[in-house]
Amino acid sequence: MCFRRTPYLAVGLLLHWASVIGQTEPEQDLPHVHENVVLIPRAKQFELLQAKEQECYEKMASEPPPTEGAYCNRTWDGLFCWPNTPVGTTTIQSCPNYINMFDVRENASRECLQNGSWFYHPVYNGTWSNYTQCN
Ligand SMILES: *[C@@H]1O[C@H](CO)[C@@H](O)[C@H](O)[C@H]1NC(C)=O
Ligand SMILES: *[C@@H]1O[C@H](CO)[C@@H](O)[C@H](O)[C@H]1NC(C)=O
Ligand SMILES: *[C@@H]1O[C@H](CO)[C@@H](O)[C@H](O)[C@H]1NC(C)=O
Ligand SMILES: *[C@@H]1O[C@H](CO)[C@@H](O)[C@H](O)[C@H]1NC(C)=O
Ligand SMILES: *[C@@H]1O[C@H](CO)[C@@H](O)[C@H](O)[C@H]1NC(C)=O
Repeated sequence: MCFRRTPYLAVGLLLHWASVIGQTEPEQDLPHVHENVVLIPRAKQFELLQAKEQECYEKMASEPPPTEGAYCNRTWDGLFCWPNTPVGTTTIQSCPNYINMFDVRENASRECLQNGSWFYHPVYNGTWSNYTQCN
């Protein structure tokens, strides 16, 4: 399957999905995982992202913050909900199964620096989650 290694210029960008959704869509309406790669129509992906975002904000509003220790704040990065993460650690989650062409066997990560800030990517001029392994 060579197509899933096609490099995208926007890899890792928060708006990464904007480039992904331009892909040719499969006919079926639901996310479908074929050989570990997600195939999902653009409209369905958009719908799922909105639902995930809402779910994330509800979770962030309802869960109490940690009572001790320094951590990076939970956040929605545009694709994924990331939990409060202790400083100096990296949170890892399986690549989301609602983004077209993502490989669900791979991991996405987000690094919490020692000073309580999320890793800041100079190229994108912003905090950044690592989705490079996802596609
Ligand atoms: C983290 O969240 C707390 C509580 O909501 C807030 O007071 C603090 O400013 C946030 N820190 C950062 C770095 O955004
Ligand atoms: C994904 O991360 C988990 C730990 O969270 C690790 O056990 C697993 O080997 C990782 N998978 C890949 C493909 O890197
Ligand atoms: C945290 O450290 C990083 C890397 O040293 C730096 O870029 C960032 O500005 C720091 N954040 C704060 C809030 O000081
Ligand atoms: C980076 O982002 C900050 C805040 O959004 C902005 O003030 C600054 O001009 C940006 N820098 C570059 C190089 O785009
Ligand atoms: C992103 O994750 C990959 C795989 O773990 C790693 O090789 C790469 O250095 C990471 N990129 C950044 C900018 O941290």
